[in-house]
Amino acid sequence: MYKTKYFNNKSLVALITKDFKIDYHGDHGISHWKRVYRNTQILAKHYNIESDVFELFALIHDSKRENEYHDPAHGLRASIFVEELLKKKIISLSKEESEKLIFACKNHTLYPLADDLIVQICFDSDRLDLGRVGMRINTDYLSTNYAKSLVEDGVYKPKKHLKLNHSNKTPDIPKIIIMRHAKVLIKNRKIYANELREVIKEYDITPIETNIKNHQELLEVANSCNYFVSSGLGRSVDTLALLGKEPDYINRLFAEVESPYTKLKIMKLPLFTWGFWFKLAWFMGFSGGSKSYRQSKIEAFEASKILIKFAREYGAIFLSGHGLKNRLIAKALKKQGWRETKKMGMDNLEYGVFEWRDFDLTTTDYSDKLPSTKTTRRAG
Ligand SMILES: [Fe+2]
Repeated sequence: MYKTKYFNNKSLVALITKDFKIDYHGDHGISHWKRVYRNTQILAKHYNIESDVFELFALIHDSKRENEYHDPAHGLRASIFVEELLKKKIISLSKEESEKLIFACKNHTLYPLADDLIVQICFDSDRLDLGRVGMRINTDYLSTNYAKSLVEDGVYKPKKHLKLNHSNKTPDIPKIIIMRHAKVLIKNRKIYANELREVIKEYDITPIETNIKNHQELLEVANSCNYFVSSGLGRSVDTLALLGKEPDYINRLFAEVESPYTKLKIMKLPLFTWGFWFKLAWFMGFSGGSKSYRQSKIEAFEASKILIKFAREYGAIFLSGHGLKNRLIAKALKKQGWRETKKMGMDNLEYGVFEWRDFDLTTTDYSDKLPSTKTTRRAG
């Protein structure tokens, strides 16, 4: 398995995300850029070629999208952005590489195939990630033979809605294991309150700690499960990779609750201290432009229903999730009659086990158990 290499150019990531118009965690957001970059590294390694164009392409090619769907000019806008970055000397490339990057960004959704190997790797790396939206990868639109062979060998395949072949296996007793991702290697440092939003974006692309204490125990737990669920955030997917697993199902509902923000440049405090105070404020009803506590509870309930559905289908299932959202999901599961047979901790890599021995395999509708979605009327 290839190690995911993270972006070196952190300031460019910050610059891009500042003006990013669509969902940072959506189908064309940060996780996609990272997977495209990883794909370029896999192909480049095979063809024994190195170039800074790969990282820049992964970061920039979808950066000027204005919607997730039909946006034929986003490649052109990305190529103009590259020209600006070069002109302002924010990035530097040789003349030849600059031309390749501009061409690749401009045409990544327009040209079926490419001639130049660097551009071919860029195009293929993007197309190899079509599986994330449940699409089959058409090898006619891959330029390199190696990318074609990876698809033909089933290395790249549609991820969402993937059905495992358990037809000749009786599902075990439904069991849901919920674990918090591994520790993210971010340094605690002093920041102003208004810098928290940017730091959270940085957190989303920072690698996880790979040296873990209870590795053997976690490997056994993971190996006892038949189906793996992830939020799609790097730390959730990478934690699964640490256990030798890949997500069978990715959904943003499992991502961490959003932290509130402020634009006020309030005093410098350690990052973790701000994180704590903002979360506390969030619990008390201050959502500061983010999803409220109430909205997150509803999301967690939806997430729990998805887990129950998979547990019914596959028996033991595993969620690689996030601290607070996991807790809300656990609460929702308990509300629906699930017993916490191993208590879930809040620390990284701590997991809880939820079982329902009298699980009713015929029940599908839990809608009556959903919390009320009525909103309180605002004054004025
Ligand atoms: Fe893309």
